Amino acid sequence: MARILITSAIPYINGIKHLGNLIGSQLPADLFARYQRGRGNEVVFLCATDEHGTPAELAAAKAGKPVAEYCAEMHEVQADIAKRFGLSFDHFGRSSSPQNHKLTQHFAGKLAEAGLIREVTEKQVYSNADGRFLPDRYIEGTCPNCGYEKARGDQCENCTKQLDPTDLIDPRSAISGSTDLEVRETKHLYLRQSAMKDQLDAWIDGKTDWPVLTTSIAKKWLHDGDGLQDRGITRDLDWGIPVKKGDEDWPGMEGKVFYVWFDAPIEYIACAKEWADAHGKSDAEWERWWRTDKGADDVLYVQFMGKDNVPFHTLSFPATILGSGEPWKLVDHLKSFNYLNYDGGQFSTSQGRGVFMDQALDILPADYWRWWLLSHAPESSDSEFTWENFQQSVNKDLADVLGNFVSRITKFCRSKFGEEVPSGGEYGEREQALIEELTKRIRAYEAHMEAMEVRKSAQELRAIWVAGNEYLQAAAPWSTFKEDPEQAAAQVRLGLNLIRLYAVLSAPFIPETSARMLSAMNTLDTSWPEDVEAALSALPAGHAFTVPDVLFAKITDEQREDWQTRFAGVRS
Ligand code: MF3
Ligand code: ZN
Repeated sequence: MARILITSAIPYINGIKHLGNLIGSQLPADLFARYQRGRGNEVVFLCATDEHGTPAELAAAKAGKPVAEYCAEMHEVQADIAKRFGLSFDHFGRSSSPQNHKLTQHFAGKLAEAGLIREVTEKQVYSNADGRFLPDRYIEGTCPNCGYEKARGDQCENCTKQLDPTDLIDPRSAISGSTDLEVRETKHLYLRQSAMKDQLDAWIDGKTDWPVLTTSIAKKWLHDGDGLQDRGITRDLDWGIPVKKGDEDWPGMEGKVFYVWFDAPIEYIACAKEWADAHGKSDAEWERWWRTDKGADDVLYVQFMGKDNVPFHTLSFPATILGSGEPWKLVDHLKSFNYLNYDGGQFSTSQGRGVFMDQALDILPADYWRWWLLSHAPESSDSEFTWENFQQSVNKDLADVLGNFVSRITKFCRSKFGEEVPSGGEYGEREQALIEELTKRIRAYEAHMEAMEVRKSAQELRAIWVAGNEYLQAAAPWSTFKEDPEQAAAQVRLGLNLIRLYAVLSAPFIPETSARMLSAMNTLDTSWPEDVEAALSALPAGHAFTVPDVLFAKITDEQREDWQTRFAGVRS
């Protein structure tokens, strides 16, 4: 039995995620986790909310709530939606957890001991009225480049120029509007990534099975321009993990917190401890997933993320881990995604454009969305959601192909043989041919799933459903029944067994429907079809079943048009 650790990029706390976020990491990670569990492997699948940084503070201010309260509430909201989407995390943690505080401070201490942190004195804008520094988005002013009056401290929205807060003309606080500002010196910590360049370079060189897209991004950052830059890992903010060296205070760093991108990936590890703590497990039980000196050498660790996250996962986080000098597990395989666009534009959280996870579930059950998103995953390039395409996929793949198959065979059996698997007859040539085709296709499906080729897996699964439909069409038990009821019985028996087989194979994509199919077939047997012929005899003659309700309702043109209009604008 293999042991597989799976993490999804942890979503920012500020607001409900849209479908583009979902398909960029959490959903494909869930597909892989469910598949590996289905194959009988031991899986730990972790995700969490990313709760620090200026976006969290500003969103809380906008909601008129203390930031800790805002994060606690939004965490519950996101956890609930994740559950309703069938995301089967073993634990959904929080980057603000005590476990992550401790571990982040621990890593900082180890990095300092290794001489990999330097203290830098730099100039930052300080607001007397607010009694605080104003990093990044906390300051507004006139852009020195284009004269736009509402430029932010980190960037001008109008001309896109990257700015430093001290560049702004007529700067004011984004919190109070105060112009009583001054430039003060402040001390920050930098992670000496440049000192780890060769080590990172060698590590990436060993990853010969990684996609070029991934390694080329890492290589670019390692070699372009002046090479890998040291990175500021602290901020003058209230909300975040206080800067400490392990348990000890860090002189000169009082009142400062770690930068969100320093503590967020560490939450992948802390989350495993949260998981263990929540289930009364010992430290050894999570450390065997994360510490190579405690058993994690056997673990296959796979990360899922959008392409914009790749540099942090190939360089910054590995720098933290390698720099600590401790035997933590490094990522083995990293699966990254392009972007999903929405109806001729981009999904946008800040502009409320597109379909958000809660809205999607208000319209249709999770499996409809899971199927469309996964079968159109933006793997080799960006992809686009359109309502026409969604309607077509649902109606064809789910309703016509899979749903119809299940409905036809169960109803026919009920009318001629009653609600139990019929006895009599034997599988003949046609059945053998089907078993051969299915065997080939199922082996291909497994290979695609192992390789995390999401679209190819979906295509193969669909072909497996189609093969059953074609068999049924050709065997035509409704005609056979008139001359040879015994043979019709064998055909129906095979059809009913196919339903169980489809439920098992399809569970990673459409878990809710798969459970309904199994319950209609009145079976708990979810064993993987290593031997397809044997799998098609799992439900013996005489086994009782029930005809399920319609598995997938078709999307009407009216519904499609209605949704198209409803989601054309921006979310208020
Ligand atoms: N919150 C980030 C995003 O949505 C992802 C953080 S992933 C982690 O882009 F590695 F930092 F955990
Ligand atoms: Zn500008």
